[in-house]
Amino acid sequence: VTVFVPRDSAALAVGADEVAQALTEACTARGIGLHLVRNSSRGMFWLETLVEVATPQGRMAFGPVEADDVGALLDAGLLDGSTHAQSHPLSLGLTEQLPWLAKQERLTFARMGLTDPLSLADHEAHGGWAGLRRAIALGGEAVVQEVLDSGLRGRGGAAFPTGIKWRTVRQTPAAQKYIACNADEGDSGTFSDRMTLEGDPFMLIEGMAIAGLAVGATQGYVYVRSEYPHAIDTFNAAIALATQAGFLGDDVCGSGQAFHLTLRKAAGSYVCGEETAMLESIEGKRGIVRAKPPLPAIEGLFGMPTVINNVITLASVPIILAKGAAFYKDFGVGRSKGTLPFQLAGNILRGGLVEKAFGLTLRELVEDFGGGTRSGRPIKAIQVGGPLGAYVPPSQWDVPLDYEAYAALGLVVGHGGIVVHDETANLAELARYAMAFCALESCGKCTPCRIGSTRGVEVIDRITRNTGEVREQQVHLLRDLCDTMLNGSLCAMGGMTPYPVLSALNHYPADFGLDATPAT
Ligand code: NAI
Ligand code: SF4
Repeated sequence: VTVFVPRDSAALAVGADEVAQALTEACTARGIGLHLVRNSSRGMFWLETLVEVATPQGRMAFGPVEADDVGALLDAGLLDGSTHAQSHPLSLGLTEQLPWLAKQERLTFARMGLTDPLSLADHEAHGGWAGLRRAIALGGEAVVQEVLDSGLRGRGGAAFPTGIKWRTVRQTPAAQKYIACNADEGDSGTFSDRMTLEGDPFMLIEGMAIAGLAVGATQGYVYVRSEYPHAIDTFNAAIALATQAGFLGDDVCGSGQAFHLTLRKAAGSYVCGEETAMLESIEGKRGIVRAKPPLPAIEGLFGMPTVINNVITLASVPIILAKGAAFYKDFGVGRSKGTLPFQLAGNILRGGLVEKAFGLTLRELVEDFGGGTRSGRPIKAIQVGGPLGAYVPPSQWDVPLDYEAYAALGLVVGHGGIVVHDETANLAELARYAMAFCALESCGKCTPCRIGSTRGVEVIDRITRNTGEVREQQVHLLRDLCDTMLNGSLCAMGGMTPYPVLSALNHYPADFGLDATPAT
């Protein structure tokens, strides 16, 4: 009998290894033949450890399973298809029919949870390498056009059109070009990059090889967050396997073109996720932001033209090539084409990964998928787009998640991280935290961020500790300071810290002691 127990960090954190071990031992003791597959996670983290059993009808899901549950599950007939197993309290029915999964539009994450992440055979059997093979047949120029036509925009947060970036690198003459994948996933509440590295690493390798062939780059780097040990191990193993099988190396899939891939462990600093600081760090220097121009697409890694894309951007490329630009472009709204893997975190009942086309609303995500807060208290604020993203009040939860619609309201979709806070949250404290975080992570190159963030903490303290006219003056000062940081910072670190601060101040003034207007 084939049984699936995930090996994703989110499952390991709640005892997936112990469940796998208990299952193996119990089956040995009972003389049951077990074929255990350590798959990737389905992204339904509240159900981890999610154990799935292959049946003729499809995979049956059980969760959340703990090691101590294994004996009772086997007694109930977990492995012999007994209907008793289906009436066990942990039985969830057919995995694919779970509404949380069935309602998603999984394009990039289509294989997630289905495969053994390090099985080349599984990857191939589930549509892997089709994009790379088509890219080789099309040739570089047509691949760039296909990516351009798909409408794909940078999934790291800035939403710059990927095809335009690739075209710039392709058209810039140079002896050496690079692909640099930003996997320094530092945003709060985000884990889609990590899940990709751990759960479908060949998809990212495929996307990077396509990018290399498209722009004429023969070397790629993946800069992985140092706090992701499992992702680092899995991805390194995947690079070795893909190289052995000829998907990387001097002659990618018989194309006659070379593409080599190297993983770099990141330096443990948030600002190293900023693209130019990342380049410095890959070059072995301290992660300090470079002024732009020159754009990395013209003068990037080691001074050479470099495509810098986030994990999800590159991981979206194989399906675009495999199914065509028109297929991908059909998903989404306005200029926000395709899908985004949204990540639900914080105080939420059902946290995990939801891949949907742009255009759904925050309310659908946190209420329909997320089920509200874990604490059971009403939601007060939702931070979208990481620590530099705005706090979104209830009045804006019905705005479609679309880059332009969000930008029009001063909000950011960012990397799709969604962190929910219940009514016990104090938004003045969270605004102070945003400034303190900026002070801690600032690279120090420019004054508005380096000095402004420290002053910001002090000003917020003076707002919350004073009353009357003094408080009003300090609020004015905070707005001035935010204006300077927004307009005068060299990069998004200082430039976006005002987003959480001002949204907290504007929508939750009562938390700053300003007036009793409730959040709207
Ligand atoms: P940006 O708007 O300066 O640039 C976007 C990208 O397009 C860059 O790669 C830039 O080099 C490239 N680009 C711009 N013009 C180009 C042209 N004409 N030709 C070719 N390439 C061109 O934004 P930036 O500073 O790179 O990123 C800021 C964003 O990062 C924010 O919106 C924020 O949401 C996000 N962010 C993401 C984090 C994460 O963990 N994923 C963490 C922090 C911020
Ligand atoms: Fe460095 Fe902050 Fe300036 Fe960015 S905004 S360059 S992190 S000091």
